[in-house]
Amino acid sequence: FAEAAEPKPLAGRHVLVTSGPTIEPIDPVRFITNRSSGKQGHAIAAAAARAGARVTLVSGPVAIPDPEGVDVVRVETAAEMLTAVFAALPADAAVMAAAVSDWRPADVASEKIKKAAGHAPPLSFIENPDILATLGHDAQRPKILVGFAAETTDVETNAACKLATKGADYIVANDVSPAGGVFGGDRNSVRVLSSAGVDIWPTLSKDKVAERLISLIAEQLG
Ligand code: CTP
Ligand code: CA
Repeated sequence: FAEAAEPKPLAGRHVLVTSGPTIEPIDPVRFITNRSSGKQGHAIAAAAARAGARVTLVSGPVAIPDPEGVDVVRVETAAEMLTAVFAALPADAAVMAAAVSDWRPADVASEKIKKAAGHAPPLSFIENPDILATLGHDAQRPKILVGFAAETTDVETNAACKLATKGADYIVANDVSPAGGVFGGDRNSVRVLSSAGVDIWPTLSKDKVAERLISLIAEQLG
């Protein structure tokens, strides 16, 4: 017997996913960044592709391979990620799983800053654009918009605040306290917040979290 064809609930749909960290240069050899392996975002892109979607994955620098069947756009800074996200529109659904740097160094030195004994240079920052909130309040907003929330305290309260302000339909909240092992790990314990309330998912592999999220999106797109 031939195996039954996998269902393709997202056939004909375009899904946009962000993943990985952004990096923000200080000078030609130094940068600041966020902790992010890209595992969860890449798993979401892969699950969307398996569900039949055309997928654009906008990713910061990660050490994992590109998912199969996905168009990958590589970026470094938050500003580049914002541009790439808007260039990829329109999309039916977007999942913003990237760990975007909230700030960037105010002045980027064009030459390497040389060390001088007894002196450490000060760093000052300016705010980066909030890509999720920008998309959430834009006329080109995808029908379904999913954000994440990385929290170390008051997970649900902080995530609810993000749901209320960023224009997203869903916020996937995870506790990234060092004890939890989410960063770089293969499992994730999430709470999914929406206007319908809070859904606490069991601890699952990042692949299973991705599959459940893609099922939810497919259901909502109808
Ligand atoms: N995000 C974004 N652009 C930023 C910062 C965050 O698009 N400049 C997105 C992330 O991809 C994620 C969501 O916003 O989907 C929440 O990110 P998070 O860092 O948890 O929240 P912030 O709103 O940045 O607030 P804070 O870091 O203070 O908790
Ligand atoms: Ca942040």
